[in-house]
Amino acid sequence: MAKLIDGKQISAQIKDELKEEVAQMKERGTQVCLAVILVGQDPASCVYVRNKKKACEYIGIRSISCELPEETTQEELLEKIREFNEDDSVDGILVQLPLPDHIQEDAVIEAISPQKDVDGFHPWSVGALCIGKPGFVSCTPAGIIQLLKRSGVDIEGKECVVVGRSNIVGKPMSLLLLRENGTVTICHSRTKNLKEICRRADILVCAIGKPKFFTKDYVKEGAVVIDVGIHRNAENKLCGDVDFAQVEPVASMITPVPGGVGPMTIAMLMSNCVESARRKEE
Ligand code: GUN
Repeated sequence: MAKLIDGKQISAQIKDELKEEVAQMKERGTQVCLAVILVGQDPASCVYVRNKKKACEYIGIRSISCELPEETTQEELLEKIREFNEDDSVDGILVQLPLPDHIQEDAVIEAISPQKDVDGFHPWSVGALCIGKPGFVSCTPAGIIQLLKRSGVDIEGKECVVVGRSNIVGKPMSLLLLRENGTVTICHSRTKNLKEICRRADILVCAIGKPKFFTKDYVKEGAVVIDVGIHRNAENKLCGDVDFAQVEPVASMITPVPGGVGPMTIAMLMSNCVESARRKEE
């Protein structure tokens, strides 16, 4: 049976490390601060935002909450971002996505100062990752690297297969694995022979967005399997992109859903905020 990679435990450990660091920064007179902007009242977004603020509170990061009505214009939102860009007490700016249809997501992401882009979505952040320069990295893939490293998985020279090519997960995940000297293959909806390619993987990252898509036929004996999916089935139970019951006996390590990749995203957001404040101190 595969060893479980416990994202809850690893994220708790990271948050405790950050809490200690934030306390030390406070002694030096630095208060870490995250501005969280939510437009409208999408129920899932409200939960995410609440969890992000709770994590800030636990670690000792000040959070500024900016909740704007659904009818907010793009210009009003951009003005708010400019305000936070210019405010030296703000280290990170997070605009919760998705935004209402009348607001262009790209314009909003590009308005955030790259120095405060703790989500890592700005084209500058993505470009920096691509050419190996310092910058903020998208939280979910950064969290997966932490899961692998803290579980003792050596990435160097390994066959890494990433299934999914989204801007938030698949693409940055591939670049991060490459930065760790993995041999990386990116697969997507048009890939031919997906099963065969996945079966080559020492490290298989599943981010295809289809519940229980990855059966045991996709997994090599002893592979490390990372499940980025999160779905609710007919019985209202959470499941991932991986058919856990089938794959667990084949893999050497696997992330559960829930309790695997999910908790890491907020931990890495907190880590990016602390990193931003640290850079300000330099
Ligand atoms: N909506 C879903 N995931 C995310 C995320 O990681 N960051 C932001 N800002 N919005 C999201």
